Amino acid sequence: MKALLCTRLDGPDHLEIVERPDPVPGPGQALVRMRLAALNFFDTLIVAGRYQVKPELPFSPGGEGVGVVEALGEGAGEGASGVAVGDRVIVHAGHGCCAERIAIDAGRLTPVPDAVPDEQAAGLTITYGTSLHALANRARLRPGEWLAVLGATGGVGLAAVELGRLMGARVIACASSEEKLAVARAHGAEAGLVYDPATLKDALREISGGGVDVVYDAVGDAFAEPALRALGWRGRYLVIGFAAGAIPRLPLNLILLKELDVQGVHWGAFLEREPEAHRADQRRLLDWVAAGKLTAQVHGTYPLAEFPEAFGLLTRRAAVGKVLLRP
Ligand SMILES: NC(=O)c1ccc[n+]([C@@H]2O[C@H](COP(=O)([O-])OP(=O)(O)OC[C@H]3O[C@@H](n4cnc5c(N)ncnc54)[C@H](OP(=O)(O)O)[C@@H]3O)[C@@H](O)[C@H]2O)c1
Repeated sequence: MKALLCTRLDGPDHLEIVERPDPVPGPGQALVRMRLAALNFFDTLIVAGRYQVKPELPFSPGGEGVGVVEALGEGAGEGASGVAVGDRVIVHAGHGCCAERIAIDAGRLTPVPDAVPDEQAAGLTITYGTSLHALANRARLRPGEWLAVLGATGGVGLAAVELGRLMGARVIACASSEEKLAVARAHGAEAGLVYDPATLKDALREISGGGVDVVYDAVGDAFAEPALRALGWRGRYLVIGFAAGAIPRLPLNLILLKELDVQGVHWGAFLEREPEAHRADQRRLLDWVAAGKLTAQVHGTYPLAEFPEAFGLLTRRAAVGKVLLRP
């Protein structure tokens, strides 16, 4: 089979497409023929050795995707895992989806309802899973609350915009261009802001009439403190990621003065520790997509050979929604 491989930790430009033997499913595993792999920002980090998870070299990137079960290893039969040969499944692997086949624990597969096409299923798990966990389980977002989303057209950001709207919140999208804001508005944002650290706090306060209730921050760096300062009484600040680079430090006096909650979101740890809650979130998301309530917006689908273009979209901040590779 063909696989996109990381053989040295020098970033996306040094990935290679290599011929490899097909993997063999071990006990409890399934062999999945991948149809689409979805890229996330962390894929740009993992192939440069700058992500918290460091797989042994060589490895294939691609944390998630969609495929069809071709075979089941010992003990991974239907009753045990809930999947059968021929099922179309979401694969949540962490890495390894940018290959024609993957052998993976059958418990990490989620059957896809017929009403959900491959393109929407491929990139649903990580972005929408993270944002649903953040907004529902952590911030307990309520109808009518103001939600500011930083990086509102990236993978997790656009998911937060859509989910926030679906949960009845009033969403303020923050992004780097008017074109991006138009996309966020089309996905449910009530207001949009081309963000600048110097004006972010006042602009968010003005739009929300005094202070926002929840900040969803996937960007970090110089945007974090002004966004924190834009929160109103007992506001919640969701720490999602640091796409802009630097990990910010926040002055604790600001937390004290308005009884703010700074809430960490580590979706990968959540699904390991609370697998039942994670599965319930997944079913909720798939039901919403099947009912046409979530778009799971795709930026583009590229053949595996065009991986430099696909990764480049993420590193250049140009992706609007999910970037998919077809192994
Ligand atoms: N906590 C968790 O459990 C969890 C789960 C998933 C992802 N994450 C993290 O969330 C962050 C976003 O992930 P993603 O997959 O949504 O990424 P993405 O699709 O690349 O989106 C990131 C957004 O950040 C903004 N940005 C600002 N400065 C940037 C820069 N220097 N380089 C790139 N983007 C920049 C961009 O929007 P503008 O151009 O509009 O500024 C971009 O749309 C990452 O740090 C990721 O590791 C965390």
